[in-house]
This record gives sequence, C-alpha cells and structure tokens, in this order.
Amino acid sequence: MALREDFLWGGATAANQCEGAYDVDGRGLANVDLSPVGEDRQAIITGKMKMFDFDDEHFYPAKGSIDMYHRYKEDIALFAEMGFKVYRFSIAWTRIFPKGDESEPNEAGLKFYEDLIDECLKHGIEPLITITHFDFPMHLVHEYGGWKNRKIIDLYQNLVTAIFTRFKGKVKYYLTFNEINVILEAPFMGAGLYLGDEENPKKAMYQAIHHELVASALATKIAHEIDPDAKIGCMLASTPHYPFSSNPEDIFAAQRVNWDNYFFIDVQSRGYYPTYKLKELERANLMPEMEEGDLDILRENTVDFISFSYYTTRTVKSTGFDKNGNITYEVVENPYLDRTDWGWEIDPLAFRTTLNNLWDKYQKPLFVVENGLGVVDEADENGYVEDDYRINYLRDHIKQMKDAVELDGVNLLGYTTWGPIDLVSAGTGEMKKRYGFIYVDRDNYGNGTLKRTKKKSFDWYKKVIASNGEDLD
Ligand code: BG6
Repeated sequence: MALREDFLWGGATAANQCEGAYDVDGRGLANVDLSPVGEDRQAIITGKMKMFDFDDEHFYPAKGSIDMYHRYKEDIALFAEMGFKVYRFSIAWTRIFPKGDESEPNEAGLKFYEDLIDECLKHGIEPLITITHFDFPMHLVHEYGGWKNRKIIDLYQNLVTAIFTRFKGKVKYYLTFNEINVILEAPFMGAGLYLGDEENPKKAMYQAIHHELVASALATKIAHEIDPDAKIGCMLASTPHYPFSSNPEDIFAAQRVNWDNYFFIDVQSRGYYPTYKLKELERANLMPEMEEGDLDILRENTVDFISFSYYTTRTVKSTGFDKNGNITYEVVENPYLDRTDWGWEIDPLAFRTTLNNLWDKYQKPLFVVENGLGVVDEADENGYVEDDYRINYLRDHIKQMKDAVELDGVNLLGYTTWGPIDLVSAGTGEMKKRYGFIYVDRDNYGNGTLKRTKKKSFDWYKKVIASNGEDLD
C-alpha cells in the first residue's frame, strides 16, 4: 500500500513566527510578542522571568518577523509552485479578540485570515488551521493569570465559535492547541503562565492543563455543531524518550517521561484521564479542581485525528528514586546518533517507531504536522542555498514515514514540514535557525531586505510532492 492518493503534502508555520505586524489592524499584545531573542528568552518562556512589557535592552523578533502579514500572497504562490496540497498556519488570538475578553470579534482580524484562506483555496491548497500556536493575549495574563483561570475556557469558546462560524465550508482541518504538552517545559509560551509568584507552580500548571483539555473538547463539540464536516485534531510534541540501557530503572524512567507527554493525547483521544496520571496527581496533591460535567465533556468530545511534530529523540538515565518513590533521571547523549548545531539528535528510524506507537495506541488517523532541520544556511549573493543537508534529513525521514505506512499499515493523512519558509525560531527567537525551502533575507536582529529566494531543496520537495513521495532522489 503506497501513500494515499489524496495524501496532504505541505508545510507549516505559526502566526507569531512569521506574520509580524504585531500592532496592525487592531491586533492586541500577546505573550509571544514579549519573548525576546537572546539569553533571557528561556527564562521568560518558561515562566520564571517576568516580561510583561517591551524594554530597550531586548530585541523582540515577533514584532516584525518575516512580515508574512503583508506578503502572504507571494509566499502562498511559492508554496503552490512547490505543489503544496495543504498549508498549516495558525491564527493569532489577538487579531480576532485583541484583549481576549471582548464580546465581539475584530472584523479586520477575521478578514485577514479569510483572505489568506481564500488565497490558499485559489491555488488548490487545503488550509489546516492551528487555533492556538503558543499565543495568548497579554490582557488575559494581567486580568486572569493565564490558563490557570477557568474563565479562559469561556473566552476560548468565543474565539473558536467566531472562527468556525466564519470559515465554515472553507476549512476542514483544525488543531486546537499546538504541542499541548509543551506547557510542561514552557508554561508562559504554552499557556500565558508566569510562575514566579505561584506558591505551588506545578499545581497552577495542572490546573491550566485541565482547563486547556476541557476547552479543547468543547472546541471539538462546537466545531461539529457548526460544521459537521470539520475535523478536529490534537497536537503532540512527540519527543520519544529512550532508556539509556537495559537497566530496568532506565526503562522505568523512560516510560514515566513518555507518559507525561502521552497523557495529554490520552485525554484528548480516549476521553478520560489515564489512571497513571490520576494516581500521580493524587499522590503529589496536584489534582486540579474539576467542575461537575467536565469529565462528561472530555468523554463525549474526543478528537477526530491525531497530529504531532517529530524532530528528535532524547535518552534518559535513572538517578534513583526520591523519598516519595518517584523515579529521578537525567537526560544524556545518545552515543548512536548525530546532533544538529542546536543539539537535537537526528533519528529518522524513531519517526517510524513514533508513527507506529501513536497508531497502535489510539487507532485514529494520524497527521504529521511538523518535521524538519533547523540549521545555519549560508546564502550566496543571489540568496541561493545549496542545502543538501536539509534534503538528506527530509529524505531519511520521509523514507521512514513511507515504511510506517507501506510496511506497517499506519493510517496517515498527510505530512507538513516545519517552516517551509525561514521564520523565527520558537525556542531561541533566532532567525538564523532556518528550516525553509525558501530563504528569507533577515538576521537575528531584524536587519535584511526580507527578500524571498529559493534554496536547492525547493525543487527537491516539488519533485517529492509531484511523485507522491516516490521520487526522493
Ligand atoms: C515546534 C513548534 O516545537 O518546533 C514550532 O511547534 C517550532 O513553533 C518548531 O518553531 C521548531 O523549534 P525551534 O525552536 O527550532 O523553532
């Protein structure tokens, strides 16, 4: 069995990493706008350092980014030239509800995305919308303290209702939250949570997680009511964790970390909290407050498909058990793998393993919505990049993906590479960590013409799509 004939090949971006125009047409301020490039970014996105306003010492890349807000027609035309069947992009919450708690949406914001969707459809490209990709209105951070406040569930319902109503009939695929499990590592970026003032940061985090899970289920319900043809997916940052050795302690440690991540998808796909997580939350006194009816909402509104990002794997080594009987561990280098300049281990075979694990666990169609190589590209004077390393990375991964489908029978809807056009890195805020088939002339501090040029991989991906993955040379 080859890839399905209507396999959705394409690319994926996120609003704050490509749009720029952060204060145009009524857009409000968001957490992502306030995450600067440089050494403080990590502390800010992880909710340890407060950055609630711009200052003069930092450079904030999302303000301008690659200005796709004004250049989306040119960019979508390039995607169409590569033969994209699907374009995954996200909606900036603060374009639709600038503060987050208004009663009426901002027409200019809805119109912008409607035009963008129409532009995709004009080229025969299916839009795939991420409703929230690491963005959260700053007004809701100030007034409500982020997703830990239950009120945000209602406000999110307003957002999704405005989106589904406006785009009904034009958009079939939606994801509720990008990489929902990233809240564990980056709570300010993932959920507008500043944890510096929290008495019990973990408790606040699990409360926020519960709210996001209920909001995601309600979004699924609302989507199906408004547009029965809409398909709603969850989205996992799938970084499989290996045990360092066959020592049972290492194996146990790897299982626990993997469970921490799978937990979100267990709830969104199966409709209930898995027992391992309930027990753990009880033991640690971290059980979130739940309202009557929450568990029914989760159970009755599971997702239609499962999407995930895949870049890398990690390896964990046990360091023993703590006084509460919980395993402790450290992340160690995998001696069998090469790594990128940013330390991400390159592991194509685990892509096949991941596809199989997710299909086997959930038995719902899968969608790979991110995969790619972030590296420094050296462009020549014409903006051309000979990026064979990117072609090699993608080829190796696509081969494994095909094996998962053709040899193992995984049900896969599509594949979108991350950042088909160079954009701002979510993790570091750098521009020089590039993923694109299209080079953008801009540096880490906003210098450059923003000119777009094709890299070598542009024509390669075009050929891959045209042959439905058969020609990978
Ligand atoms: C995923 C995110 O974590 O990985 C994207 O959904 C992000 O937003 C991508 O850009 C790559 O990570 P980074 O840190 O290299 O941009």
